[in-house]
Amino acid sequence: MSLRPIAAFTPPSRLLLGPGPSMAAPSVLEAMSRPLLGHLDPAFVEIMEEIKDMLRAVFRTENRMTFPVSGTGSASMEFCFDNLVEPGDEVVIGVNGVFGGRMAEVASRCGAHVIRVEAPWGHIIEPAQIAAALDGRRPKLVAVVHAETSTGALTPIPEIARLAREAGALMLIDTVTSLAGCPVELDEWGIDAVYSGTQKCLSCPPGLAPVSLSDRALAVATSRTHKVQSWYLDVNLLASYWGAERVYHHTAPVSMNYALHEALRLVLEEGLEARFARHERNHHRLRAGLAELGLEIASQPGHQLWQLNSVTVPDGVDEAAVRGRLLRDFGIEIGAGLGPLRGKVWRIGLMGESSTADNVDIVLNALGQILSENAA
Ligand SMILES: Cc1ncc(COP(=O)(O)O)c(C=O)c1O
Repeated sequence: MSLRPIAAFTPPSRLLLGPGPSMAAPSVLEAMSRPLLGHLDPAFVEIMEEIKDMLRAVFRTENRMTFPVSGTGSASMEFCFDNLVEPGDEVVIGVNGVFGGRMAEVASRCGAHVIRVEAPWGHIIEPAQIAAALDGRRPKLVAVVHAETSTGALTPIPEIARLAREAGALMLIDTVTSLAGCPVELDEWGIDAVYSGTQKCLSCPPGLAPVSLSDRALAVATSRTHKVQSWYLDVNLLASYWGAERVYHHTAPVSMNYALHEALRLVLEEGLEARFARHERNHHRLRAGLAELGLEIASQPGHQLWQLNSVTVPDGVDEAAVRGRLLRDFGIEIGAGLGPLRGKVWRIGLMGESSTADNVDIVLNALGQILSENAA
C-alpha cells in the first residue's frame, strides 16, 4: 500500500468548555515538551516523589499509597475495583449517571455481587438510600461517584462514608471531576479508596489517573485469596515501582508525569481554597447569565456542581445544531447529554484553567447569539 504524504498535525484553536479535557496552562504543555529522562533516572524518581507528596496535599490525605496510575480515569476506576474486590464479594454502588453505571459494570467483571442503589439522573445518591441498602448486609465495599460528570450532580460524601464504615465496608469514591474543583477531604471523610483523572480540574492532559488507598484498603489488597486479575493494575506490584524499591514494573509515561508535576504545582500555588472559590464564583456567574437567556441548570437544586453545568435545552431547539455552531463558528466545545439526558441537556464545563469569568462571558454571548438567531 502506498500512503500519501501526511502533513504534521496542527490542532485548530478551541476553547474547551465541555466535560473534559479542560484547557491546560501553557506551562503544563511546555513541561511535556522538555527532554525525556529514563524513568528510573534519579532526577525522574525525584519528581515522582514530589508528585506523590503534591497528590497527598490535593487529596488531603496522609495515605502513603498515593500515586498516579498510568492511564485515564477509567484505568484508575479499574485499579480500585480490581485490587479491592474478589469474586463473590458483595458491593453496594450508587448509580445516578454514566459513571456509577460504569463502576457497577467494572465491579461485576471482577466477579462481585453488585447491589445497585439507583437515583434519577441529575439527582444525588441520598444517605438514606445507602442506609436502606446496608440494612442487614456487611458488604466489602460501598462506592459512589462524588461529582457525576454525566449529570452535574454533587453527592455529599461524609454521611455515606460513615454508614459504610459502620457496616464494616470500605468506602470508595470517584473524584475524577471533583478533585481540585471542590472540596475533597479523604482523611476527614474516612475514605478508603479514591480515584481521579488529570484532564478535568487538575487541567492537565488526559493520561494519568491519581489514586489513593488507606492502610485499611491496602491491607485488603495485599491479603487477597486470589491474585489481582490485572497484572498491570496490581497494587502489590505497583507499590514496589512507586515505592522506595523502584522495581521496574512498566515504563512510566515520563512526559505526562512532567505535566502532572507542573499542574499540581500550579494547583497548590493557587491554593485549594482559592481554587474552589474561583470554581464556585464562575458557576454562579454562568447560572445568572443562563437565567438571563431563559436557560436553567438541570441537576438537583442545592447539589449542582460548580465545574460541570448541565443546562436544559429549551423545547424546539436542536441541541446538536447549537453545539455544532458553537464549535464551528466560535471555536467553543461544550458537551452533549448522555444516556437518558441525550438531546435534553448541554454540558458546560468550567474546570480548572477553563473556569474564568471571561470564558463564562464568551460562552454566554455565543449561546445568546445562536439562540436569538434560532428564534428569529
Ligand atoms: C466521573 C467520571 N468517572 C470516570 C471517568 C472516566 O475517565 P476517563 O474518560 O479519563 O477514562 C470520567 C470521564 O469523564 C468521569 O467524568
